[in-house]
Amino acid sequence: MGECSMSTFHIIGSQPTEGRIPVHGAKNAVLPIMAATLLVSEPCILHSVPYELEDVRLMIRILESLGVKIERQGDDLYIDASTINTLEAPYDLVSGMRASFVILGPLIARMREAKVAMPGGCAIGIRPVDLHLKGLQALGAELKLEHGYVYAQASKLQGKRIYLDFPSVGATQNIMMAATLAEGTTVIENAAAEPEISDLATFLNSCGAKVHGAGTNVIRVEGVVALTGCQHEIIPDRIEAGTFLVAAAVTRGDVLVENAVSNHLKPVIAKLRESGHKVTEYAEGIHIVGGHSILPTHITTSPHPGFPTDMQAQFMALLTLSLGNSTITETVFENRFMHVNEFIRMGANIRIDGRIAYIQGVKRLTGAPVRATDLRAGSALVLAGMAAEGETIVHDTFHIDRGYMQLEQKLKGIGVQITRYD
Ligand code: UD1
Repeated sequence: MGECSMSTFHIIGSQPTEGRIPVHGAKNAVLPIMAATLLVSEPCILHSVPYELEDVRLMIRILESLGVKIERQGDDLYIDASTINTLEAPYDLVSGMRASFVILGPLIARMREAKVAMPGGCAIGIRPVDLHLKGLQALGAELKLEHGYVYAQASKLQGKRIYLDFPSVGATQNIMMAATLAEGTTVIENAAAEPEISDLATFLNSCGAKVHGAGTNVIRVEGVVALTGCQHEIIPDRIEAGTFLVAAAVTRGDVLVENAVSNHLKPVIAKLRESGHKVTEYAEGIHIVGGHSILPTHITTSPHPGFPTDMQAQFMALLTLSLGNSTITETVFENRFMHVNEFIRMGANIRIDGRIAYIQGVKRLTGAPVRATDLRAGSALVLAGMAAEGETIVHDTFHIDRGYMQLEQKLKGIGVQITRYD
């Protein structure tokens, strides 16, 4: 979960926003692609890597602990996994980030053996890894769960037809990666279709893998004997982009979110328009002009192409100030409303009943000291602070640093009064 720090964001709200704001490479794309380099016994070069994210730094430490050589030049990462010398990923690293569990599939596939600690991550639900394990077992891996570790062995992997009970992003990635070096063809049914899955497939195919159908619910992987080194450009971060679009909406601003890919953000754009904002899609990014009023709307999170759970907290910040009653139904994670109490401290009117948040719009929020409880909840508090009257102090910014790079510099660039205190 990154380094614990005492640092805080101080935000003076109710300031107008205007200008251009850039988007970095996608955290959720780069993490599995870094893990995928474990499949390759030649150097790979990744471009547009959001190097300063705490989660990326943690993945670098995990790969280095396995003996992988990594060098950084600007936004490029040079990763050479020909030098792997240990097959054990220890608890103190893996427990810090759930996404690190996707090293298991590549390690089994290339090294035939692995010992990986069970994952940790944000406290937004139970988040088991049963689908990852079932899928890898179906391909022929022998797995033992003991002392908090998964011990995996596979004399060979054999392609199979695998149906996922839920289109889990991580399980799809783990199985897809392992299948690239299996014998024969693997078909993943009810696979996740997120843009980050497609980016991983593009990387794998550039290395010589044969992955078809990524971005749909059926992915077909024909196994090959080995993968070769390649260069790959990471896609822009759709959740960072979405967060900036809401930042403009909540401040009634006029902002161009540079590099944002509108194809990746359809449900977010649709809901912004529904709530009264003017959104225009360009090749160079997405332009938003915040509406005079924020209109209420109803949102249900679901796997891609549905509304992303990773944008749920940010939209709640927006809808606290809407002209009526909104609902947000969270179907992906069972415990992802921890930001609600913090919004209420700022004057929001929200009631939770099971998986549904009932939001009655209020005329104004007032700045308050609040605490980030996870990554996206943290960014949502920054947004609420931008809309509120007076000063908001967001504590536990280390959650935010896991997924947003240079957040305060970027927001300052469009006129937000935000300062970090360490
Ligand atoms: C990824 C994203 C995260 C996003 C989530 C859903 C990364 C690094 N993280 O997380 O930001 O919020 O997708 O879009 O890409 N589940 C099981 N068994 C499993 C696996 C998952 O029951 O084996 C459940 C989880 O508990 C959760 C749901 O499925 O309720 C979604 O999880 P999943 O899609 O796997 O999310 P992650 O890959 O962890």
